[in-house]
Amino acid sequence: MGVTAFFYILLFLWVHDAAAIIGFTRSDFAQDFVFGAGTSAYQYEGAVAEDGRSPSFWDTFTHAGKMPDKSTGDIAADGYHKYKEDMKLISKTGLEAYRFSISWSRLIPNGRGAVNPKGLKYYNNIINELVKHGIQIHITLHHIDLPQILEDEYGGWLSPRIIEDFTAYAGVCFREFGDRVKYWTTVNEPNIGAIAAYGSGQLPPGRCSDPFGITKCTAGNSSIEPYIAVHTTLLAHTSVVKLYREKYKAEQKGVVGINIYSYWSYPFTNSTVDLEASQRSKDFMFGWILEPLVSGDYPEVMKKNVGSRLPSFTKIQSGLIKNSFDFIGINHYFSVYVNDRPIERGARDFNGDMSVYYRVSRTDPPAGQGAPTNVPSDPKGLQLVLEYLKETYGNPPVYVHENGVGSPNDSLNDTDRVVYLSSYMGSTLDAIRNGVNVRGYFAWAFMDLFELLAGYQSKYGLYHIDFDDMRRPRQARLSARWYSGFLKKNGSSLLVSRTHEDLTLNTVS
Ligand code: FCB
Repeated sequence: MGVTAFFYILLFLWVHDAAAIIGFTRSDFAQDFVFGAGTSAYQYEGAVAEDGRSPSFWDTFTHAGKMPDKSTGDIAADGYHKYKEDMKLISKTGLEAYRFSISWSRLIPNGRGAVNPKGLKYYNNIINELVKHGIQIHITLHHIDLPQILEDEYGGWLSPRIIEDFTAYAGVCFREFGDRVKYWTTVNEPNIGAIAAYGSGQLPPGRCSDPFGITKCTAGNSSIEPYIAVHTTLLAHTSVVKLYREKYKAEQKGVVGINIYSYWSYPFTNSTVDLEASQRSKDFMFGWILEPLVSGDYPEVMKKNVGSRLPSFTKIQSGLIKNSFDFIGINHYFSVYVNDRPIERGARDFNGDMSVYYRVSRTDPPAGQGAPTNVPSDPKGLQLVLEYLKETYGNPPVYVHENGVGSPNDSLNDTDRVVYLSSYMGSTLDAIRNGVNVRGYFAWAFMDLFELLAGYQSKYGLYHIDFDDMRRPRQARLSARWYSGFLKKNGSSLLVSRTHEDLTLNTVS
């Protein structure tokens, strides 16, 4: 063998090894499967007091200094001013879909009634940009972003009065945007959202009662309010789906779904009590939302554990809620181990009703028992969630609405994120190959944002933002370039060429 041939073999082996082939390409997924990324209004837009937007309960929460880093979304990623270049960047990156949410208080500042023309124009502009670039649009109507005025008037999601207002707001969105938008999600993460907003007090409106609060509890009832909020949310969701189906679907031909926060729960040991606890955790996490949507009522285990604190559906409500969804969106970040513990140990999570102790563990359970290694980065967990949805709830169409990894690290060289995203995309493919009806995958987040639990202390972005710079310049991380190569060049390698086209727009003028 000549030296040159030998050199090339060596080079091939080296590149092959260094490139760490991920084992699949874009073309292993169906053509109509979509890959995208997401943001949400309060986390992205900023301009909180501009052009007629009224405060949302996020503004109240952050301005009361409730974030761990005392931050606010006053400017956030400045998306209100930079949307045009961002939509261009989405296209340049090669994303096929974009998920974002509408700020209700920007569109309808009084919560009901008059539409704010400038708010309307802003969302029309975004939508038109996306249409121009051929990006599929996925809109969430409520991504934890309620007009404060409705919180003040009747307690927001704790009151059935919100059903009418939310339906009217959704109606405005369908009427104004539905000619171009076909994928609607009513509410983001009602399950964990209710727990964080009304159980632990970590999200607005920040209500809780001792001993469940993680923040200081001044008002609320952690044992009851999360159940009321979810109940109202489910009824409001149902009402919106009914409106869409009766008034808009025939002409607009879109779909309406709901989103669920998910983690996979492994039993901490193989003991019967831990196995039961991990199943209970799934019923509280998925069943709380999905059992009513699929069969018209809450899971039996919830009724048993929560008793009279769990609201019930009337016969009519139960009939309406059943089948009132076209798809399920799931947000997924990690797996947990669950074991059965006395209520005191698990009090923080789900108010102790599940009497499980969540071990969000980086260590393994006892040898040979239960779960695999590397929780919480556990791509297999996403596959198990997706397969569980198929087995338990009749294989509905599913979108992975959020998946990603947060880091305090600002680095542009985010190899960890590339490894994380590619491995979770791989487990999504495995689920599809096992028959799960997955229709799309969205990385969280398109860019660094104001993060819900961590403010600016945690970065999830494919694009880096310098939050110390008033101009909020965007810069591609390795993960953006890798995702772009995967999508545009059908890439299968973790290695990203340094000469890959520069995705950073010059946003600093
Ligand atoms: C999810 C939220 C999303 C984002 C991620 C990190 O729970 O839906 O907005 O903040 O967490």
